[in-house]
Amino acid sequence: MKLAFFDTKPYDKPAFDQFAAEAGIKIKYYETKLNEDTVDLAAGADAVCVFVNDTVNAEVIDRLQQLGVRTLALRCAGFNNVDVKHAFGRIHVVRVPAYSPYAVAEHAIALLLTSVRRIHKAYIRTRDFNFSLNGMTGFDLHGKTVGVIGTGRIGRVFIDICRGFGMKVLAYDKYPAADLDNGDTVRYVSLDTLFANADILSLHCPLTEDTYHIINEKTLAACKRGVVLINTSRGALVDAEALLAAIKARQVGAACLDVYEEESDLFFEDNSGHILEDDTLARLISMPNVIVSSHQAFLTEEALSNIAETTVQNLLAMESGQCPNEVCFRGDAAEDCKTGKCF
Ligand code: NAI
Repeated sequence: MKLAFFDTKPYDKPAFDQFAAEAGIKIKYYETKLNEDTVDLAAGADAVCVFVNDTVNAEVIDRLQQLGVRTLALRCAGFNNVDVKHAFGRIHVVRVPAYSPYAVAEHAIALLLTSVRRIHKAYIRTRDFNFSLNGMTGFDLHGKTVGVIGTGRIGRVFIDICRGFGMKVLAYDKYPAADLDNGDTVRYVSLDTLFANADILSLHCPLTEDTYHIINEKTLAACKRGVVLINTSRGALVDAEALLAAIKARQVGAACLDVYEEESDLFFEDNSGHILEDDTLARLISMPNVIVSSHQAFLTEEALSNIAETTVQNLLAMESGQCPNEVCFRGDAAEDCKTGKCF
């Protein structure tokens, strides 16, 4: 099998080279992202492999189909960048539903601790032999209430870690888990109750029509004053302009962002020699109480290995007709395919 691999980064290759060689898959790596202009690079490939910021719209899907590409393998969990409705019946779409929920949950906690204990400031100060503690006062996580939106794989690991810190958890999920609410330290509540009571808010739901800008001017105003927002899920869950305004108004105490609504042309690339055109992002980054990482929550050795292994397994499974990780659009919902009858 031949695989055209888009948006390649040096850290992608070792694990993919290993698992693909074992499976007899030949990979052509391209640094460019997949989009309308680059899709022809997939000529001759049986499958393409893409990541979160490749563009897989109707035009790209049609061209891939014309080129004889049978499978689109996402090396990530989210598929909001794929027009899955249009893909239905044209190209198989497979994904890696879980590769390391620990990687993302632990990164969310890393951002939170960095923010509330001012580690990002301390690192810079002490390198300059500035040992002053002025302005470094943080707060204990113990006893605080964390609001968690989305209690799937990552949300649950995040909740476990928070409980280890002695935090109370208020959770919201469109499809609550039967075994999570213990009536005490972890409670499912309405979004209104969650916003009104959380000292810290962490987003672990997918980006859908329901969750687009779930954090907006209105919901930020409904939060406790000084709330700390963590977003390691998808940028467009948060209205960035509204967040900026709420930070300026001191309504939001701190923001920890691993994702950003307009990240696709910026994140994963070295833009240090360029003038940043995005004023909202530039202003957010300039704030002392905002920490931005560039969609790196997934980036652990374990996750990279799991991503490569599952992607290769997905491709082999798809060749033999059915893959449990196929994303399939039926009726009004995209979900993993339970039937293998997507065409
Ligand atoms: P998951 O599918 O296990 O859990 C998602 C949860 O969100 C489910 O419990 C689901 O019921 C819930 N949900 C769906 N619609 C909702 C709504 N309207 N309101 C509230 N909850 C809703 O997914 P997982 O593995 O926990 O990943 C969560 C998200 O994390 C992914 O969708 C992805 O966007 C993001 N992610 C980010 C990474 C990064 O590097 N920053 C890496 C991997 C995932």
